[in-house]
Amino acid sequence: MASDQSPAPESPGANDSPAGEPHEEPRRSFVFEIASIVIGGLVGMVPLLVGVVTFLDPLGRAKKKPLWYAQGGDGDDGFIRISSLGALEENAEPQRFPVIADKQDAWNYIPNQPIGAVFVQRLADNQVRVFNATCPHAGCSVSCVGTAFHCPCHNSAFDLDGSKLVSESGRNNPSPRPLDSLEVDPARLEKDQEVWVKFQNFYTGKHEKKPKS
Ligand code: FES
Repeated sequence: MASDQSPAPESPGANDSPAGEPHEEPRRSFVFEIASIVIGGLVGMVPLLVGVVTFLDPLGRAKKKPLWYAQGGDGDDGFIRISSLGALEENAEPQRFPVIADKQDAWNYIPNQPIGAVFVQRLADNQVRVFNATCPHAGCSVSCVGTAFHCPCHNSAFDLDGSKLVSESGRNNPSPRPLDSLEVDPARLEKDQEVWVKFQNFYTGKHEKKPKS
């Protein structure tokens, strides 16, 4: 005789709660693991992105400015202001001026740095003559004494036009070339009465005047 106590059919959702919890737990853990991986990855990306931006930043800045540029002007043409014309007496002894400019390399910007020195002499008709103050022989600094330039290191001597002189001691002048003349901006000299110079250092100990980069 058939029994009336056959098992009752499961109703939909019978495992949902609280009997369903053992099935939900693995799913929840999986979601937490994925979320942890994603968040951890994003957090780890931050220093990486900062490093990449910092590393690439100079590439963008290098396009905006040259390695060094002039103080008191945009300097895009490479000229640096040295003096006003009015501060120079006509046909007087050449005056020595430090050359001050802002320096910039890929990662550093250093304002107002001395990058060399020049001798400036004002001639007739508002013309000027400018020389790099570095001796072409081995790089010592020349001085102007009376009517000539003199280098104390090995007794090179130069006329006021920069040409080599035989030293007073009779020894050969060891400099391989005359003093290095520098280009003056004629427009600023005539219009603004100011001396702007394209400052440049050159390799020493060579007969040819070869600019350093
Ligand atoms: S460095 Fe000037 S004479 Fe030698």
